[in-house]
Amino acid sequence: MSNLVGIDLGTTFSAIAVLDEIGKPEIVPNADGERITPSVVHFPEDEDGKSLVGDIAKKALVYRADRVLQCAKQRMGDDFKYTIEDCEYSPQQISSLILKKLAQDAALTKGPIESAVITVPANFRESARKATMDAGKLAGLEVTHIINEPTAAALYYATIGDVSGRVLIYDLGGGTFDVTVADVADQDVQVVASLGDAHLGGTDFDRKLLGVFQERYEKEYDRKLFDSEEGSFRYLADAEDLKKMLSKRERAGVMISGDAGPLKVELSRAEFEELISVHIAKTATLIDGVLDEAKCEVSDISQILLVGGSTRIPYVETTLKKIFGIEPTKAVNVDEAVALGAAVYAGLRAASGVLNSAQSSAMTKIKLTDVCSNYYGTLTLNQNNTTGRTELMNSVILKKNTSLPCSNKEVFYTMSDGQTELECTITQSQFPETDPEFVNVLDKAMFGGLPPGRPAGCEIEVIFSYDLNERMHCVFRDVQTGKQHEATLNPKGVEDVSADQAALRDFIVE
Ligand SMILES: Nc1ncnc2c1ncn2[C@@H]1O[C@H](COP(=O)(O)OP(=O)(O)OP(=O)(O)O)[C@@H](O)[C@H]1O
Ligand SMILES: [Mg+2]
Repeated sequence: MSNLVGIDLGTTFSAIAVLDEIGKPEIVPNADGERITPSVVHFPEDEDGKSLVGDIAKKALVYRADRVLQCAKQRMGDDFKYTIEDCEYSPQQISSLILKKLAQDAALTKGPIESAVITVPANFRESARKATMDAGKLAGLEVTHIINEPTAAALYYATIGDVSGRVLIYDLGGGTFDVTVADVADQDVQVVASLGDAHLGGTDFDRKLLGVFQERYEKEYDRKLFDSEEGSFRYLADAEDLKKMLSKRERAGVMISGDAGPLKVELSRAEFEELISVHIAKTATLIDGVLDEAKCEVSDISQILLVGGSTRIPYVETTLKKIFGIEPTKAVNVDEAVALGAAVYAGLRAASGVLNSAQSSAMTKIKLTDVCSNYYGTLTLNQNNTTGRTELMNSVILKKNTSLPCSNKEVFYTMSDGQTELECTITQSQFPETDPEFVNVLDKAMFGGLPPGRPAGCEIEVIFSYDLNERMHCVFRDVQTGKQHEATLNPKGVEDVSADQAALRDFIVE
């Protein structure tokens, strides 16, 4: 039987989980016996393009930061390449190496890993979702589904029990922040709304501490500790250590060594809280936003579920207690909940005949309703009644936070007499934008061959449907003739990754 696998592809740490024989998810440790693996890739100079992934790569940041790549998740879907010597790597190639390492290590104890559910932040753009699926394919995995990280975590929390009512999932990891409102009753999880920031997490806090290191070193020695971002990476592990110590103690210190000599940097928890207060305040603003989107009040939230390593920072907990007046729930390991939930989801969406009877009966108790993570629309020409001018605007067809699967139809009209073609555009945005400047264009195509000689004002139906497989199907239909233009935005439909594959060599698993 093939393994049912969930992978949390994190900005800083990744984890892999499988569904066991009785339908319970379990984390599979890596070859070093660690339950989470740093999402860091090192290309050693003498290894002819081969790569090392995980802890060994993270350690290389101290001595070869120029040959180490990290936080690739934050660039997923961007038109961007990393360069190491003459080699270029896309963010999805780097992510694929991390996925490959996780699958390869898990296979040592669990047998071959052929397919997986991979998690993404709830506010990930469509291009970043597609890039995540591409990364899976490059790693040799069939990505059966992708699932939003807070949704996966909520699913896991629900399966272990003791969660009910309207809950808020606060997910603060290494590089992204997501906040989600969901209704949970027993093992039935209904997502209501999500908001997030794709660049807010523990790495920001580490960078703040690097700033303190630099400042104190200059004061002591009148010399800089580092003079580039790359140079600062040498001290990242010290910064992370100090941050973690401050989660346990009121005061902590680390020894750092620079060219002018060593220095002990000591900090109090209060000083650290001051450093990160802007970031934590931003998460509070996003909580306000998601409560608005869910049309509810602070008092409607019965439980707060913590997810992500950065929620171990005591200041996070005190901030949440101040807002909600209740203690957040910490019933799970905050680093592992997302991968475990993804493995449950792999079981929930498994094709018939894949599950054994114990797994089937575990899955029948679970129900999940997720929502559309973005607004989707099309560009239309509209008459401005005040200026009399024709303006291009974005018209929303599918609203964010609509329960999946969903479908909606809007009717538009041809602009001019004798019009035989129209431009069909599919857009995406985090907010219900009307200005085309603020939307991402996902697809653009000409729909030609409409009959000539017709007057303006012919009806065009635009139907967008979004299914459980994260696939969006769009139809632009000329009502009179029934002719239509169709587009399927299918993150699974990765056409050709062979060029990317050719550029990747096998990597060493230590
Ligand atoms: N005890 C702790 N105190 C403070 N921060 C911690 C602690 N333990 C872990 N972290 C931080 O949590 C972050 C990792 O959390 P997690 O693994 O949930 O993130 P991720 O999945 O890599 O990122 P993301 O979900 O944003 O993509 C790191 O920045 C790490 O330094
Ligand atoms: Mg995470």
